[in-house]
Amino acid sequence: MKEKTVYVCQNCGASFPKWAGRCPQCGEWNTLVEKVVEVRKTSPRTLITPTSEPVPITAVPSEDVTRIEIPMLELNRVLGGGIVPGSVILIAGEPGIGKSTLLLQLASMLARESSRPVLYVSGEESVRQIKMRAARLDVREENLYILAETSLEQILNHIERMEPFVVVVDSIQAIYSEYLESTPGSIVQVRECAYAFLKMAKSTGTPVFLVGHVTKAGDIAGPKVLEHAVDAVLYLEGDPFHAYRILRSVKNRFGATSEVGVFEMEEQGLREVPNPSEIFLAERVPNASGSAIAVTMEGSRPLLVEIQALTSPTSFAIPRRTANGIDLSRLLLLIAVLTKRVGLHLSDQDVFVNVVGGIKIKEPAVDLAVAVAIASGFRNVPVAADLAIVGEIGLVGELRGVRQMTQRLAEAARLGFKKCLVPSGSVKAGQRTFDGMEVVPVRSLEEALDIALVR
Ligand code: TYD
Ligand code: MG
Repeated sequence: MKEKTVYVCQNCGASFPKWAGRCPQCGEWNTLVEKVVEVRKTSPRTLITPTSEPVPITAVPSEDVTRIEIPMLELNRVLGGGIVPGSVILIAGEPGIGKSTLLLQLASMLARESSRPVLYVSGEESVRQIKMRAARLDVREENLYILAETSLEQILNHIERMEPFVVVVDSIQAIYSEYLESTPGSIVQVRECAYAFLKMAKSTGTPVFLVGHVTKAGDIAGPKVLEHAVDAVLYLEGDPFHAYRILRSVKNRFGATSEVGVFEMEEQGLREVPNPSEIFLAERVPNASGSAIAVTMEGSRPLLVEIQALTSPTSFAIPRRTANGIDLSRLLLLIAVLTKRVGLHLSDQDVFVNVVGGIKIKEPAVDLAVAVAIASGFRNVPVAADLAIVGEIGLVGELRGVRQMTQRLAEAARLGFKKCLVPSGSVKAGQRTFDGMEVVPVRSLEEALDIALVR
């Protein structure tokens, strides 16, 4: 039997039996979305006998969940210390970034560790294609089961029969419910299928990993609609031209968000990188102008990265500004501050900024390193090779304090940097050293440039 569906306007909430391009109620375009009609089980509210009971918070026993530990420390940390039974975890990322690779490795590890069946459902690739990847990854676990299937109902049947330890669904966009008319990958299908897996996970305690694709254009049926439903959302990011991959938790009901794990894509799959700073700095050319080292925080972990900048006289009416790894609007702001507050004539210069290693930095604490790199490139004066830089820049060229300074200083000192420029508001008055590294508090961008760029 087909379930009854209606079309609900996402703008005004009105529902209609037929689809229309424009909502007849509110007049918005393309807002009607198909939904399964839920059969009302009971009649009016007054007749309902309560099935749940409010309890005083003090009467709720505090229980510690036993997490399933993953023998991959980077992944374990991003999840907040392992997999919580019954949780649904979305792994999102652009096509080709390595989601299937990571999850096949994970599934194989879990099958080995638990000696229980682990089910890897692939809606996109055939069993033979997965076998080829598995051969590359040297995966040969008897307990790892591959299912090439796209029907939600079929998959749930298999799960019920098999009772796997963990389920991987690759990808949620490929799965469809036979009870919905929308095409696989549409918002309705993605949402309904995700809820079905969520229900299964909660009732059986089986953890589920869902793969979700995001496109550069911000696919409408992408993981955004899923983020509310699932327990954790992890983004696998990285530049396809670089080997580094960063797994970032953007939501986690059972742990901290913005935790990151760093991996490197190799011939045999993704390998953990326990000391990312060392790798990000490995290819650095010392004493080249236009390069500065920033100390950034990724979650609770400090990371040293090289910021490179190149300026060259423009041949356009409007000079070009290109930012790779930092926000373009942030770069424009820093160029404006350098022009106005420090008197650098960048108005007829093309400016290119690149964060080495293909990682993306969102925090403003790298402002000062970016500004120093630009000034260094423009004036053709190198920054001392043993100088690390931290600081957010305000519009009047002042340096603003940044959080977690101790962790940043510790990491810079550990990697052998001799000197670190910091905003004066971020260190205790009078502090001049940290673990043998010189700490140099500065108040303004101008002051910082005087120290960083010495001939
Ligand atoms: P894949 O996991 O298929 O990406 P996604 O599922 O996110 O679309 O991996 C894609 C890329 O990774 C592919 O271009 C090949 C590369 N790769 C390796 O470099 N080493 C490996 O061991 C594997 C399996 C893939
Ligand atoms: Mg894939």
